[in-house]
Amino acid sequence: MMIPPARRRFGRWWHLSLVIAAGVWTAAAAEQSHTTQEEQGKRIFQRYCAGCHGREGTGEGYRLLGADPANLTSRQTQEKSDEDLLESIHEGQQGMPAWKDRLSNEDRRRVLAYIRSLAQ
Ligand code: HEC
Repeated sequence: MMIPPARRRFGRWWHLSLVIAAGVWTAAAAEQSHTTQEEQGKRIFQRYCAGCHGREGTGEGYRLLGADPANLTSRQTQEKSDEDLLESIHEGQQGMPAWKDRLSNEDRRRVLAYIRSLAQ
């Protein structure tokens, strides 16, 4: 028995629309998880870090005697690897306390995602 042409055409489109729908869904999911990680990081940053590094991360917050808080938007910081920056956040630096007791690994990654979004 012959399949009516209309049905054959529909069959092909049905397939294509599934592919498109899957693509749109994947893109939307990726976009969403990206934004939430960054936004969670922003909240952490404003709570714990902005006092020294400034609300925009440029380092014009509170200054201790000694090292100025790093300008986190600078090329110098942004060129460092994730590992380096995560290590600095966890272990602290001269003039910055260690955050490992207060920030979980996940929070550290969130705050780094936010710092990455500040790149000049
Ligand atoms: C008490 C003030 C203070 C607070 C609060 C603070 N920092 Fe810092 N931070 C500093 C100082 C000072 C440095 C070292 C600057 C230098 O040595 O040039 C630094 C360095 C860094 C570096 C290394 C930058 C580089 O280029 O290597 C990162 C990353 C960083 N801070 C992230 C954070 C994050 C994330 C938070 C919040 C969880 C935070 N800081 C809270 C003062 C602070």
